[in-house]
Amino acid sequence: MEGQTNDYSVAASKFLQTCDLLASDVKIEPFTIVIFGGTGDLSKRMLLPSLYHLKKDGRLPEDFSIVAFGLPKKSDEEFRKFVRESVETFSPESFNQSLWDEFSQHLSHISADFTSDEDYTALYNRLAEICIPTPENKREVVFYLAVPPAVAPVIIAKLGQHKFCDETFEPKIIMEKPFGRDRASASELNRTVLNVFDESQVYRVDHYLGKETVQNIIFFRFANSIFEPLWNRRYIDHVQITVAEQVGVEQRGLFYEQTGVVRDIVQNHIMQLVALVAMEPPVGFEADLIRDEKVKVFRTIRPMDEEYIGKFTVRGQYGPGSINNVQIPGYRAERDVAPDSNTPTFFAAKIYIDSWRWAGVPFYVRTGKRLAERLTEISVQFKQPPLKLFGRTCDVIEPNRLIFSVQPQEEISLSLSVKFPGVDNQPHNVTMDFNYESSFGVERHHAYERLLIDCLKGDLTLFARQDGVEAMWSVVDPIISQWEAVPAANFPNYPAGSWGPKEQDELLEHEGRAWRNLASEPSLM
Ligand code: BG6
Repeated sequence: MEGQTNDYSVAASKFLQTCDLLASDVKIEPFTIVIFGGTGDLSKRMLLPSLYHLKKDGRLPEDFSIVAFGLPKKSDEEFRKFVRESVETFSPESFNQSLWDEFSQHLSHISADFTSDEDYTALYNRLAEICIPTPENKREVVFYLAVPPAVAPVIIAKLGQHKFCDETFEPKIIMEKPFGRDRASASELNRTVLNVFDESQVYRVDHYLGKETVQNIIFFRFANSIFEPLWNRRYIDHVQITVAEQVGVEQRGLFYEQTGVVRDIVQNHIMQLVALVAMEPPVGFEADLIRDEKVKVFRTIRPMDEEYIGKFTVRGQYGPGSINNVQIPGYRAERDVAPDSNTPTFFAAKIYIDSWRWAGVPFYVRTGKRLAERLTEISVQFKQPPLKLFGRTCDVIEPNRLIFSVQPQEEISLSLSVKFPGVDNQPHNVTMDFNYESSFGVERHHAYERLLIDCLKGDLTLFARQDGVEAMWSVVDPIISQWEAVPAANFPNYPAGSWGPKEQDELLEHEGRAWRNLASEPSLM
């Protein structure tokens, strides 16, 4: 009956308008993607193989062009050879000759200097010639800035000056992190971009948001009613977030010396993970509704002063060690790194979110390079029952933990205490697992494929917004300033192949807590 609510139904958000149209059905219009730095490292490893995969999976329209715009003097043919090598190297299993023959027809290269007006005129003319208009007479162009941060403002200004954002094209711009070096430079960069583009045309990449398990955090939280009532200070003891890397700085010593772990991972990837765990339910699944909630989390993180940083943050830098029985040089011996470098490669901290939901619940976060294993996970640890009824006095009853494993396993698991079979009332810890591969068995898509597709569809949900980026810088700026002002006296303070400096344990030990043991082999610490 009209006006009568059905007690058994779930109300739909008034923002939910896509129930008849799955996101996968949204049509991608013919497009041209211009990659600035199309022969650089990111393009070679990620972007070009991802575009090839999207073509392989039939997710691109018939008409599209990929134009690389940059310094090397390369003919179209030479650029195609470069792309072929990148697909064969970084995705050998997917290479297929007939698909390649077709895909390569969409590739071209413009040898250009990012500061030359003449070269932008050549680009404009090329785009006017190759862009296929949609039925609404739009010529979709995506400008992908896969270039060092210092170059981005020059390119953006030239795009504005040469009228790429006027009537002829329907432009979007994809920008890679880092967005600035601190809040002030990020605001400056945002002003530069927004002078030329509208915020709705700006796609700021954080590739962690393209990972399937990361997206599943909010899906899991808000599609299941059993956890949400527990998702607060009354039932959650604390949260641990670990982003452990086995790789070092590879060929990027110069970049990393300027960046360090806080700018490289904490300001973006870790902050995004914190926000997804801590955010309030959005009223709908629209990009801005979700991004609004995330920004609120960043703004609620307790500001850190000198004393707080001294007590509740830990920095580290790896020294020589071994990983998988291979000798690894220390950070200071890497190419382009100063022999007395103060750059941190490890970070741990206790963070507080001063909101009604999270007041008093510590979020312990840590990340580092050259650690024992590659592993990213979020562990939500619940409070213990009020009274211990089982086992002996000396038995430890493991707390309930909900674990989101982001990589290398893509899993969600819940640990529970059950009775061990027998006459004694012995508690035993077991887990209930959901594993992507065994449940769905489908080939995982790389984060960049998802992000490229979302941009082509015009979906900004998985991209950072201006105010969010600036708010994330506000959280980490004081730490960076303090660590840069007072060099670490004890660097290097952890061997490559360990789980990081011992001081990280003290962060939790003082409070009767401990990091979850993540080692799949006995710890090397
Ligand atoms: C990048 C950092 O953003 O993320 C790198 O610049 C880091 O230093 C990488 O290695 C880690 O990404 P992933 O997907 O391998 O966890």
